[in-house]
Amino acid sequence: MKTTDKLFVPSLPTLWPHMLMAPPRPGALPPFSSPNARYFYFARNAVWLTIKMLRLDGGEVLMPAYHHGVEVEAVVDAGAIPRFYRVGSRWDVDVADVAKRITPKTRALYLIHYAGFPGPVDAMRKLADEHGIPLIEDCALSLLSSDGATPLGTTGDVGIFCLYKTLPVPNGGALVVNGKRSYSLPEPPAPPLASTFSHTVSALLQNLELRGGAVGRGLRGLVRSVGHGAVKAASVERVATGTQHFDRRHVDLGMSPLTKRIALAQDLEGIVEARRRNYFLLLGRLRDVSPPLFNQLPAGVSPLFYPMVVQDKELLLAKLREKGIDAIDFWKRFHPACDPSEFPEVAQLRRTILEIPCHQDLSPEVMGQVADVVREALKSERRPSKRAS
Ligand SMILES: Cc1ncc(COP(=O)(O)O)c(C=O)c1O
Repeated sequence: MKTTDKLFVPSLPTLWPHMLMAPPRPGALPPFSSPNARYFYFARNAVWLTIKMLRLDGGEVLMPAYHHGVEVEAVVDAGAIPRFYRVGSRWDVDVADVAKRITPKTRALYLIHYAGFPGPVDAMRKLADEHGIPLIEDCALSLLSSDGATPLGTTGDVGIFCLYKTLPVPNGGALVVNGKRSYSLPEPPAPPLASTFSHTVSALLQNLELRGGAVGRGLRGLVRSVGHGAVKAASVERVATGTQHFDRRHVDLGMSPLTKRIALAQDLEGIVEARRRNYFLLLGRLRDVSPPLFNQLPAGVSPLFYPMVVQDKELLLAKLREKGIDAIDFWKRFHPACDPSEFPEVAQLRRTILEIPCHQDLSPEVMGQVADVVREALKSERRPSKRAS
């Protein structure tokens, strides 16, 4: 590829038309393998319901200082008080710090597995058991990922998952209750059909662009402008996914039947394999220009993206997007309840990590092109600017 050519590298996998018709496969990984899974529109709804279900409202929940923010908002909205523990500069949860911060007011521990990389779930389980409190395992960024042979989301009292960050589905989050205790949970209503339809069409159009190059891109642009007009005219309620904030109006929204259909038809093992292959390709091509956060991919890990450490996020993002790579600024902000000055390593992570896509829809050829563009952009980031010279 010439570096002037524009790529199309979406941040999420696209929807292939055949996936709408494919027969279901047996789901060997949670949440699909669990008889106790409840499905929602978002993972944040599962976080909110977990607080209510475990009767944690009024109590304190010990959460990582490295968080998205929306999961903290869900905890707060449900009536619990978040307290925070230290996470180091390699996404390493400081279990000793967690232990130190547990008080009689602590009613639960909250662990996030970052981008498919397993956190210290056994140590957290032990700590929770010693204090007789539940462990909430947040796998919103870690669907299909395992710690060796143990699937993530199966050790905590509950496992929480987001489907649409890993699979080409229009919406979907899940709550899995592990252990013997059963809870009677409401079956949330299906979301507005128009919302599911709008997200599905958008993922199909992205697929067209991915496969169709310039023709696909033109067609997508045309359909999108007609679609926007139609959506406006019909005043359709499109409940956006991937948003930054918790909205109580959507807390009862369930998952669409179409999501389940698409999810169950996926080759989950193939997805994990493709993601691992793409991650290794980037690791091999980028480790000399940007010190990797993780030098290896432990067995079972299904990476959500390649976490790249950069000095100037804004500049890098602009350069990658200019070339058609939809990189994402990963977790820029602390929730207001968390004091950044108490967690300098997390503040540093928030300033320096970009998500480079490595999902199942990207071929090795495309990954090679992505690596070329990233290398070029990193080089220009390091070149002294004219003003500085
Ligand atoms: C750690 C974590 N938990 C929960 C969520 C909420 O996921 P959803 O967008 O499905 O509500 C997110 C969203 O990015 C997240 O990063």
